[in-house]
Amino acid sequence: MKRIVVLISGRGSTMEAIVQRCAAEAWPAHVVAVVSNRGDAKGLKFAVAHGLPTAVVAHEQYGSREAFDTALATTIDHFEPDVVVLAGFMRILGVPFVSRYEHRLMNIHPSLLPAFAGLHTHRRALEAGCKLAGATVHFVTPELDHGPIVMQAAVPVLASDDEATLAARVLEVEHQIYPQAVRWFVEDRLRIEKGIVRHVDGAEQGRA
Ligand code: GAR
Repeated sequence: MKRIVVLISGRGSTMEAIVQRCAAEAWPAHVVAVVSNRGDAKGLKFAVAHGLPTAVVAHEQYGSREAFDTALATTIDHFEPDVVVLAGFMRILGVPFVSRYEHRLMNIHPSLLPAFAGLHTHRRALEAGCKLAGATVHFVTPELDHGPIVMQAAVPVLASDDEATLAARVLEVEHQIYPQAVRWFVEDRLRIEKGIVRHVDGAEQGRA
């Protein structure tokens, strides 16, 4: 059984989707811990209610990013993960941290990368007049919101959209693609070749 550690900073709805799909579909994996950089992250309540171990590494208690990253890694490693899943984890992680979990650190970002790395993705998509928006699951590399793409989903941008309505439409597909991507990982169906993610059995996105 593979061991999944999920990192959150807030609501935790993508973490919930992963926990629920992992159980419902009997993946060869367990979510062994939910770790947050904020003690008040709402998602921690869901984790506790579902009997999952939780931990908080409060970033403001550390004097530098390096010190925070080191404490975070120590906490994560206690749970001996095969994969570390960033699910709305809103801290930038330094190179030593990212290197430590190379090829087993995944993130979801609410845009069709490489467009709109960084914050305020929905506002920026609206301001750019995009007709499609979406989300991307990728392996984390030191460059912010870059790295080999595992899965993407696109949704239409409607003329009537504001940031909130677009974010809600994108979040719906995030809840589909992130569990699927993590499932592929724990089933050993992903390989990274020259920065491109391949499925070992040729499965394509949307066809499990
Ligand atoms: C999601 O939309 C996720 O893509 C985004 O935060 C939200 C978390 O929601 N992540 C980022 O912006 C990371 N750069 P959740 O807390 O309900 O899972």
